[in-house]
Amino acid sequence: DKGNYRHFMLKEINEQSEVVGRTFSHYVDFASGRVNLPVELPFKFQNLKRLSIVACGTAYYAGLVGKYWFEKIARLPVEIDIASEFRYREMPLEEGEAALFVSQSGETADTLASLRYCKAQKQHIISVVNVATSTIARESDVVIPTLAGPEIGVASTKAFTCQLSVLLCLAIAAGRARGTLSEDEEKSLVDSIISTPGLISETLKCEQDVEKLARDIAKSRDVLYLGRGTSYPLALEGALKLKELSYIHAEGYAAGELKHGPIALIDETLPVVVIAPSDSAYEKTVSNMQEVAARGGRIILLTDQTGSQASGLDNISSVVVPDCASVIAPIVYAIPIQLLAYHTAVLMGKDADQPRNLAKSVTVE
Ligand code: M6R
Repeated sequence: DKGNYRHFMLKEINEQSEVVGRTFSHYVDFASGRVNLPVELPFKFQNLKRLSIVACGTAYYAGLVGKYWFEKIARLPVEIDIASEFRYREMPLEEGEAALFVSQSGETADTLASLRYCKAQKQHIISVVNVATSTIARESDVVIPTLAGPEIGVASTKAFTCQLSVLLCLAIAAGRARGTLSEDEEKSLVDSIISTPGLISETLKCEQDVEKLARDIAKSRDVLYLGRGTSYPLALEGALKLKELSYIHAEGYAAGELKHGPIALIDETLPVVVIAPSDSAYEKTVSNMQEVAARGGRIILLTDQTGSQASGLDNISSVVVPDCASVIAPIVYAIPIQLLAYHTAVLMGKDADQPRNLAKSVTVE
């Protein structure tokens, strides 16, 4: 049931405050300010030398954000790969290490094949899935569910932000186990987690601003998305959302890669969506924006109040979201990139719930 929404996708975008809140409350004890996994993991984080993360599409981008978190918060090295490559790569794995699979449907053929490869290599298998009865869930040692509820839109939205929520909790649990996180640091991360549902609701208010920008995007042939740090996977996700829904060619790049090739694309016709919360990478991203502006590129800046005042660039379009702790920025910034892709598709008369050529779950190679 779409309720009062025109599409399931828009309904699911708007559900994110609720489902992210629900997912976090499953893994966080708000009273003590600590993450509390309700399941026993089949390994101890302090014994791991590394963690492999494997997934496809949007779930892979969630895993990529997870890599930044595990490495920074828990000092745990992460290998991440897309499942269609991983399954044939014959990656050497040491017995007793852990592999984490991320999948909304729990039925993605390549992800499942990768899981089976890891099992044969005697890895501990944990999975972050949305469908509790799925094959990936059944074949895992332990399932860490996302509580997004059924996702109908082919383009993943609320499953993505719930995957991020679970991965953040896992990274915090790993940080505590590995002794890289003090009690105070954990409390402050939990405070950021507590603020997230409210921030998502606030951020959803940017819809009208985003819709105006979508009119410009809808006329473009190509769009470039840039971001640094955890905003880099968000740039990849933004580009994927736009191409799958509007069929406009879009590419996501790490902002620092601009000089290594994509800068050649910049001219007056190319919109460049820059995801830049005012975090430690902000100034570097601003200098990338200056390079784009100097070549006539049309910048659409997604940032917060602080970042919008500090950009120093005129003649750019921006979407301003609330200031938030940088750890949860990937969850907050998912909202404007989803809305941008959605409104572009709707303006172009495309079917936002059922894009051409795509299936909700990819059960064949
Ligand atoms: O069900 P899964 O999470 O395993 O699916 C993975 C991808 O097929 C999926 O995320 C796909 O990229 C979406 N259409 C993206 O919106």
